[in-house]
Amino acid sequence: MDKYYHKLLDNNIKVTQARLVEDPDFYKNLSLGQQPKVLWIGCADSRLAANEITGTRQGEIFVHRNIANMVVHSDMNMLSVLDYAVNVLKVEHVIVCGHYGCGGIEAAMSNKQYGLIDNWLRHLKDVYRLYQQELDAIEDEPKRLRRFVEVNVFEQVFDLCKTSIIQNAWQHRQAPHVHGWVYDISTGLIKDLDVTVRIDEDLTKIFHFQNLLISKEGKLS
Ligand code: CO
Repeated sequence: MDKYYHKLLDNNIKVTQARLVEDPDFYKNLSLGQQPKVLWIGCADSRLAANEITGTRQGEIFVHRNIANMVVHSDMNMLSVLDYAVNVLKVEHVIVCGHYGCGGIEAAMSNKQYGLIDNWLRHLKDVYRLYQQELDAIEDEPKRLRRFVEVNVFEQVFDLCKTSIIQNAWQHRQAPHVHGWVYDISTGLIKDLDVTVRIDEDLTKIFHFQNLLISKEGKLS
C-alpha cells in the first residue's frame, strides 16, 4: 500500500524531469497562466482522464468531473466551473463526455439502494424517464445501457445550453460550441454524438433543436 503511494511521488519527479528534457521552459511557461480552449465535463471514473484520452497536456483542458458527467442546475460546483471557464477563461468549446460501461448509469438503471449516491442517481433516473419509451423497447440490456449513456449525454448538453451562462456567452461572443461525446473504454476511441450546439443557434432555435433531436434519436444510435 505504502509502496504504491510513494511510487506516485517518484513518478512525479520522473515525468517532470522527462518533460524538462523535452522543453526546458515548460513549467516556467505553465506558471505564467492558463489559456485552455476547452471545458471538459466528464465522469469521475478513473479511466476517463481528459488529457490522456485527447492527447493534450497540462494547461489545455479545464475540467469538471462527477459521477456520470451530469449538469445539475443546482450544483454550485459545476456552475462555478462553467462560469469561470466561459466568462473568465473564455473557452471555445464545452464538451460533455460520457462513457460506455458507466457505473453510475448502471446503478441508475437498477432498483438497488446505494446510499447517499441515490440522491445523485435520481437525476439519471429522470433522464431515463424522458427516454423511457425508447430505452424500454431495447431488449438487449448491454445495448440499452449504451443507449442510456448516449441519451444522458444529449440531455446534459441541452441542460448546459439552457443555462444563462452559456446563453449570455453566445450573445456576447458567439461562443462556446457545446458538444456531446461518448468514450468507448474497450477501444479507446471517442464517439462524437454529433449534437453540437453552435454559435449561430439563437435561443428559440436551441429549444427547437432539442425537439428535432428527440424526434431523430433513432438515427443517432
Ligand atoms: Co462513469
